[in-house]
Amino acid sequence: MAMEVVIEKKEEKKEKKKRKVAWGITGSGDRLVETVEIMKEIKKQYQSEVDIRVYLSKAGDQVVKYYRLVDDLKENFERIYVEINPNSPFLAGQLQLGKFEFLLIAPATSNTVAKISMGIADSLLSNAAIMGLKAFVPFYIMPSDYEEGMIVTKLPNGRDMKLRIRKEDVEHVKKLAGMDDVFILEKPEEIHRVFKKHFKPEEGY
Ligand SMILES: Cc1cc2nc3c(=O)[nH]c(=O)nc-3n(C[C@H](O)[C@H](O)[C@H](O)COP(=O)(O)O)c2cc1C
Repeated sequence: MAMEVVIEKKEEKKEKKKRKVAWGITGSGDRLVETVEIMKEIKKQYQSEVDIRVYLSKAGDQVVKYYRLVDDLKENFERIYVEINPNSPFLAGQLQLGKFEFLLIAPATSNTVAKISMGIADSLLSNAAIMGLKAFVPFYIMPSDYEEGMIVTKLPNGRDMKLRIRKEDVEHVKKLAGMDDVFILEKPEEIHRVFKKHFKPEEGY
């Protein structure tokens, strides 16, 4: 066997051994840009060990377009899937089969947070989270509506907008925090800790 073929086969094997992470993006503009930046850094830090697959809710697909993040995502992540219905792509099934180390939804809209908190599995990412939890798959979520009060969020045109975080939305976050295998993240920077907990970063990081 030629040397190149041996090396290629070894590379393929290495590639196959990568552990997968499912990263869900919902239709939340709040801290979306910051989250994408962090995920790009993380991808570099763990590239030989981790394969990050991106799953966009229908609204997520719309919102990444508004924030002009489509090219950025495509350049950095090879596999990007868009919601067709709760079971297509069949992320829930893949999570239950243990194909992923964990599911991360960041950022998560108040809509998706409420659905998961109430056990409503009628969208791609709420279904993935709930079905994954039934199979003990760790679930990390960064809600856009984390703490009651006023926030300033960035619009796609760069302007600031003040919004009220409602106590009803925060109550859903609190309910999620009490569920087994659910971990709430407050800020995009905390995603670093999640990967560190599960994987070893490349040398130099
Ligand atoms: C530009 C834009 C930004 C949005 N930002 C947020 C947000 O920060 N938080 C939120 O809860 N919903 C936000 N929404 C509304 C959600 O996209 C909407 O509730 C949608 O139904 C959520 O669906 P999903 O949870 O399946 O992604 C935004 C919508 C648009 C068009």
